Amino acid sequence: MSNDSQCRVCGGAVREFFDFGRQPLSDAFLLPNADQSAEFFFRLATGICGDCTMVQLMEEVPRDRMFHDEYPYYSSGSAYMRTHFEELAKRLLATELTGDDPFVVEVGCNDGVMLGALADAGIRHLGVEPSGSVADVAAAKGIKVRKSFFELSTAEDILRTEGKAAVIYAANTLCHIPYIGSILSGVAALLEPTGVFVFEDPYLGDIVARTSFDQIYDEHFFFFTARSVQAMAARNGLELVDVERIPVHGGEVRYTLALAGARQPTAAVADLLAEEKADKLDDIATLRRFGEKVLATKHELAALLSGLAADGKRVVGYGATAKSATVTNFVGIGPELLPFVCDSTPAKQNRLTPGTHIPVQPPQAFSDPYPDYALLFAWNHADEIMAKEQAFRESGGKWILYVPDVRIV
Ligand code: SAH
Ligand code: TYD
Ligand code: ZN
Repeated sequence: MSNDSQCRVCGGAVREFFDFGRQPLSDAFLLPNADQSAEFFFRLATGICGDCTMVQLMEEVPRDRMFHDEYPYYSSGSAYMRTHFEELAKRLLATELTGDDPFVVEVGCNDGVMLGALADAGIRHLGVEPSGSVADVAAAKGIKVRKSFFELSTAEDILRTEGKAAVIYAANTLCHIPYIGSILSGVAALLEPTGVFVFEDPYLGDIVARTSFDQIYDEHFFFFTARSVQAMAARNGLELVDVERIPVHGGEVRYTLALAGARQPTAAVADLLAEEKADKLDDIATLRRFGEKVLATKHELAALLSGLAADGKRVVGYGATAKSATVTNFVGIGPELLPFVCDSTPAKQNRLTPGTHIPVQPPQAFSDPYPDYALLFAWNHADEIMAKEQAFRESGGKWILYVPDVRIV
């Protein structure tokens, strides 16, 4: 079997640096009576392009298997994230959307968590969202949604009906899209001459620095850096003109692209490029060291959980995240170690986690009675969840975290 693949950005050779083995679809929660032999698996492995330095998955999962009318991730499930997106909307209103009747397109608007604020402000807008489950929620809020995948043909169609956009925005979506050349040529066609494409995604620099290996799963195809984004933009008539590190989802970067030559890049771009160079983020040796840390975390977490089980302690999971599919399947955590995972999303409740078949229960199950330990899969929402679950700690309960390392708090 060849462990090489072709870069989805530039066609260069991608060299593999880590293999998580056979993994299920991270958001495919099973009904308890589902035919488990029909579960879909693929090989989850990561590599880096020797030419453009883009870090990416070695194997691609067909998009319709991931994003469809039962997609269960609802962006509005976190109060912290709701505030994050409302603040961005306010900032766009004050900066990029001050012209005459500006038009905004959001790629992957999900349940309308960001676009809702712009719609309320009377901004002409369109969300493009292929997953019917969440698109319907956005539409019910009065947001204009087109239920389809964004790609070049979608952009051309929007251009004909609505005209050019002052802002195109995508959060936690661009990194999901292997056919990224089609997206960027669509963006270049759809943007006003001085318009911007703003997108934010998990940052490779944070993933490596914090060993947050669970950011790697089927839906997260690309792991961006300023350098790889700059190269990718340039291939598509665009230019990286700003970057901003943001603290959400364990560390992301918000990138701003403009049409080539339209805007002067900020000093932040040069600064982040220099930091990445110093950290050797483009060097496969750095990524192989990350892989060694991932293996160490795997063994420590497995040892901790089996030790607690041997001591008769009760441990449950908190947050049936997409990320947790990588953790449970890679570490080997099933219902014998975690009798259930609780999650606030109705579409995940009373189902089984992909691959490992741990029952998902509503949050009320958590306190009925409290376990001795809770493995926090939604560690990126730790502040919000720990604040809401203070009574767990007061009952003597302890949280288990595994990013940046395995520890009990
Ligand atoms: N922007 C939201 C949602 C992120 S989840 C947030 O930050 O919370 C990723 C979303 O991208 C899903 O809702 C998925 O259906 C959507 N998506 C996947 N491929 C897409 C494409 N080609 N065009 C538009 N949306 C897409
Ligand atoms: P998240 O970490 O945002 O994303 P991903 O699935 O991409 O890894 O998912 C958070 C999950 O945790 C989501 O299923 C909702 C759930 N959740 C709770 O159960 N309680 C909470 O208080 C919060 C904030 C989230
Ligand atoms: Zn490449």
